[in-house]
Amino acid sequence: MHLPTILASLTALRVSTAHTLHPRSITPPAGCPLPTWQVTTFHWFNGSKSLDCIHNQADINFQDCLCGGPGVWCAPDAATCNGSMVNVCWTGMPNYQPWGYGPPETLDIDFADGLACHDEYIGYRVHDIGNGASNCGYADRGEGRIVSFYGSSNYATSTGHMDYVLGDGHALTCSNGSRITYSGSTDFELTCSHDAFFNATCTAPVFEVPVLSYQWVS
Ligand SMILES: *[C@@H]1O[C@H](CO)[C@@H](O)[C@H](O)[C@H]1NC(C)=O
Ligand SMILES: *[C@@H]1O[C@H](CO)[C@@H](O)[C@H](O)[C@H]1NC(C)=O
Ligand SMILES: *[C@@H]1O[C@H](CO)[C@@H](O)[C@H](O)[C@H]1NC(C)=O
Ligand SMILES: *[C@@H]1O[C@H](CO)[C@@H](O)[C@H](O)[C@H]1NC(C)=O
Repeated sequence: MHLPTILASLTALRVSTAHTLHPRSITPPAGCPLPTWQVTTFHWFNGSKSLDCIHNQADINFQDCLCGGPGVWCAPDAATCNGSMVNVCWTGMPNYQPWGYGPPETLDIDFADGLACHDEYIGYRVHDIGNGASNCGYADRGEGRIVSFYGSSNYATSTGHMDYVLGDGHALTCSNGSRITYSGSTDFELTCSHDAFFNATCTAPVFEVPVLSYQWVS
């Protein structure tokens, strides 16, 4: 065998070994369907100067000059401000890139079944990206589906974690008519690249969130 072939085989071996460490989905009760939750796209942008109204006290305190329509920012100088000085974290404005800030943080998680989760940072933050629930199916959140992501964008490689709760509103029907819902969870490999400003772009290879438990829905 050529050396590259051997290396490729070793890599393949390591990958398959890693996969066997991941928990497998449960066997559902007889006659019940089991969902498959495969993440096909994971993309997280966390800029070094993305506004952070939860963890960064300087951002929480920051005031900028609102100088045109909603979300139009000018230099944060009260003496020259031709509009009004406002606390950027308190506005609910549609633009979270105030003066001197980099692009806002975003998170995209797409599943093979079509579920698409998109978070775009907002100051009166609904989601604390990387620390829990993401904006998955936000429009039908009353149905109870919650996809949570935990991870850090500060390392080249690290372990991310995802929890998936299907919710009662998305319950599946078994052959005998009983309704069932599921939840699952997994760790996954998170890879982040950083540019010269330490803006982080993180991705993950395609991975599955195994189904680990079920609940009957009445
Ligand atoms: C349907 O089947 C499941 C397990 O297969 C059982 O737990 C459940 O009680 C059944 N429901 C009815 C209405 O018989
Ligand atoms: C204030 O100044 C900025 C930049 O010079 C300009 O774009 C904006 O329209 C001005 N706003 C008002 C309310 O005059
Ligand atoms: C990276 O960060 C710098 C400094 O905050 C910012 O000016 C720049 O737009 C960012 N680049 C990208 C690709 O987001
Ligand atoms: C997002 O980026 C900022 C700035 O680099 C960093 O301090 C923060 O820890 C990052 N957030 C997460 C959840 O990793």
